[in-house]
Amino acid sequence: MIMVEIKEVHKSFRDLHVLRGISMDVREGESVVIMGPSGSGKSTLLRCINYLEPIDAGSIRVDGELLTPKMSTRLAKLHKLRERIGFVFQRFNLFPHLTALDNVSLALKIVKKIGPEQAEEIAIRCLEQVGLKDKISSYPDQLSGGQQQRVAIARCLAMEPRLILLDEITSALDPELIKEVLEVLARVSRSGMTMIIITHELKFAKESADRICFFYNGKIIEEGAPEQIIESSQTAEAKRFFQALT
Ligand SMILES: Nc1ncnc2c1ncn2[C@@H]1O[C@H](COP(=O)(O)OP(=O)(O)OP(=O)(O)O)[C@@H](O)[C@H]1O
Ligand SMILES: [Mg+2]
Repeated sequence: MIMVEIKEVHKSFRDLHVLRGISMDVREGESVVIMGPSGSGKSTLLRCINYLEPIDAGSIRVDGELLTPKMSTRLAKLHKLRERIGFVFQRFNLFPHLTALDNVSLALKIVKKIGPEQAEEIAIRCLEQVGLKDKISSYPDQLSGGQQQRVAIARCLAMEPRLILLDEITSALDPELIKEVLEVLARVSRSGMTMIIITHELKFAKESADRICFFYNGKIIEEGAPEQIIESSQTAEAKRFFQALT
């Protein structure tokens, strides 16, 4: 089954043509990594998939729901859709005044209308999954950046999304904390979750991604198996990009 089907999507901010005809498919259970230079439109595409940004042309189908240029971003069907999509960002993911447990259980109670006891049970299970069972009562400022990102992943998993979008979730972290977050992601990927991941982590991409889409100037100019894209890129742009990273 195709989980995400993107067809010829265009998106501009005023005069700036940011997405210039993006097409890509993500099958159920796949982990697709998006790489490419700063400003090439990677984050914009993720925001369009979640319809935080309306698209100008083309179409996006997510888990059977069709998103088109003329739709209002306030449609009820979008709220339903967003419940099925998890989104983790680089930072500012957690509510600072809530414990890890409450951060994870809040949306279960409010959005999914699950009773407090069951919501906490689910939250504890998900925090355990990301290796943070001993931190359930900690507040975000009592956690390392890596631990905070793992809470954010737990919160995402608790909602049982059909698709998870991750936008450079390790790029604000110190090197020694990156590994623990990537290990959690790799495990989530192996569990069969469908994910679209923006990252510069080559090792992670090689070991855990099914495919890399390489963005350049609002287009996907290379797409294929991670090894192939990283080690034998065809275009000068991708070659330059990967040389700079290694
Ligand atoms: N809301 C917005 N309004 C105006 N311009 C925007 C907006 N969001 C993004 N842009 C512009 O669109 C272009 C693409 O931005 P985007 O964030 O998608 O790039 P990116 O590939 O994620 O880059 P990075 O690797 O730096 O995160 C940039 O030139 C950016 O300044
Ligand atoms: Mg970005």
